[in-house]
Formats: sequence, C-alpha cells, structure tokens
Amino acid sequence: MKLKIQKEVILAPLAGYTHSAFRRLCKRLGAHRTYSELMNATGIIYKGEEKELAYFTDEERPIHLQVYGRNPEEIAEAARKIAEKYKPEAIDINFGCSVKKVLKAKAAGYLLQFPKEMGKIVAATAKALKPLNVPVTAKIRLGFYEDTLEEIAEELLKANVSAIALHPRTAKQGFSGNANWERVKDLKKIAGDTPIIGSGDIRSWKEIDQKFEETGCDGVMIGRAALANPWIFKEFKEKKDIEVRLKERIEFILRELQLMWEFFEKERACKVIKSQISQIFKGIRGKAKLNDMIMRSKTCEELLKNLKNI
Ligand SMILES: Cc1cc2nc3c(=O)[nH]c(=O)nc-3n(C[C@H](O)[C@H](O)[C@H](O)COP(=O)(O)O)c2cc1C
Repeated sequence: MKLKIQKEVILAPLAGYTHSAFRRLCKRLGAHRTYSELMNATGIIYKGEEKELAYFTDEERPIHLQVYGRNPEEIAEAARKIAEKYKPEAIDINFGCSVKKVLKAKAAGYLLQFPKEMGKIVAATAKALKPLNVPVTAKIRLGFYEDTLEEIAEELLKANVSAIALHPRTAKQGFSGNANWERVKDLKKIAGDTPIIGSGDIRSWKEIDQKFEETGCDGVMIGRAALANPWIFKEFKEKKDIEVRLKERIEFILRELQLMWEFFEKERACKVIKSQISQIFKGIRGKAKLNDMIMRSKTCEELLKNLKNI
C-alpha cells in the first residue's frame, strides 16, 4: 500500500516543538501533512507514555505518528497499539535520531548500520498494521558512519515501505555540513512508485520549488525553518515572500498557547513554548532584549503579561 503524495510541503517532526498546537497552526498556514515527534516503543507498550505526544485533532491530518525502538517485535507492537487507538493516516518509523541516549539504547539512528534489521522492522510493522489498514513509512538518514543509502533503500523497498523521508546527512554528521539533496534525487530514481520526501536545510518557498524541480521528489519537509517562520507554508502557496511583523508573531504565540492548554498542563505549556518564542523572534529588531524578558518570566501569568506588553 503506497501513500499518495504529490508535491506536498510537510511539517517535519521536531521533538519538543511539533505538538498538536504548532501542527494545527502550520496546517492552517498551508502545510499539507504533519508528523508527531518520535515516541519510544517500550514507553508506549508498558507505560502508555505517548498520551501527550500522540494527541492530535482532525485538523492535523494527514498525520504520521512516529515510533522508535530497538527491535521488530517491540516496534510492531507499539505501532499496532497507537494505530488502533489514535487512527493516524500512517505510522512512521524513526531511523534518523542520533542523540546519545537513543544511540546508547541501540535504537533509531543506530539501526542505520543494519539495513536488514531496518527491513525486518518495516515488514513486522506492516504485518501488524495490515488488519487496521494503516501504512508504514520510514524516516532515514544516508547511513550511520558513511553513506549506505542504496543498501538501506533496497531493504526498505523490499519490505514494502509506503513512503520514505530522507534527511540526506549521515548520523555521524549530525547537523553539520549541508544536506545533500543530490541523494534525494538518487533515491527517487530507485524508489519506483514509493513516494520520496526530502528533508534538510530548506529555508524559503523558492528553495522548495527548486527541490521539487531538481530532484523530482514527492514531498519537501520543513523543519527548523518553520519554527522561525511558520508562514513559509503560506509563502509557498502564494508564491511570494510575506513580511510578518512582531505583533502578528506574538498573536501566533498566544494562539499556540491557547491550543496547547487543551493537552498540556497550563504552567508546563508556558515553559515548553519559551523555546518556540525565541525561534519566532529571530530576525526581529531588538530580539535579544525580548528574549531576555520572555526567559525571565517565571509563571504563565508573567509570560502572558510580558507578551502583551511587547
Ligand atoms: C530540535 C529537533 C528535533 C527533531 N526531532 C525529530 C524527531 O522527533 N523525529 C525525526 O524524525 N526527526 C527529528 N528531527 C529531524 C528533522 O525532522 C529534520 O529531518 C532535520 O531537522 C533536517 O531538516 P531541517 O533542516 O528542515 O530542520 C529533529 C530536528 C531538530 C532540529
């Protein structure tokens, strides 16, 4: 079962940022599809830990709920559990995250070293999700130490993955250097009818157009750039730059907070949103002073007062 993706601009998963509230606001601005941040398979199976992270509303559809783990059985079981409970359009398997804690657990990006194991994970998950009619997608990097994209792609395609998102850097690279979009083009060539989504370093609507054109990919993901400029989705739709003033940026944050209170405890939402605020102030004159004022706010009440005063 392949996904149907055609020139979509997609909000990338960003742990700590792309919760239901931010996803909804990006969808309203024109994002075609969203992903949850990565959720730990054992946490899902044994502790029902996913509650906050898996929460979404119909507005965020199509949505992929993303799972990571260590072995096929565990990932398949976690995927089945959340697919049944939340009914997303797809379950995505994270094979990209390379933070220390995850690598130590031999999960996610660690598995890039073992393409056959990645294939087994996709196949086991697809089998577990078949009765629910939910497809399995994968988000990958080029490889672990070096670029082994062809081997990885071969195993995932053999396992009948429904779409692949590629962040074209190795795990060891982290976020250094540039995303190598030539490899998105290469993947598209070998993927047949499996949709390919590229992810990395896209900062403007013109670059989105350019990547569709140059690589023939089916989707372009926007990650970090969406934090500072969620209007990028609207810019792509309208094919023009949009200048967004400070007042509008603050209104965006206040709206986001309102939405967050549906699923986050009030004070926690205020803590979580601070990093989003410092992103959205990027490029604004006097941003250092504004940031300082936000970071110093100790309670929700203080934060709201400061935001309104600005
Ligand atoms: C703070 C942060 C959190 C991320 N969390 C996730 C995640 O939960 N799952 C995932 O697949 N990728 C995650 N990524 C990777 C992004 O989805 C994306 O592939 C990468 O940032 C490159 O795209 P960009 O240059 O548009 O940000 C994260 C990246 C950042 C910077």
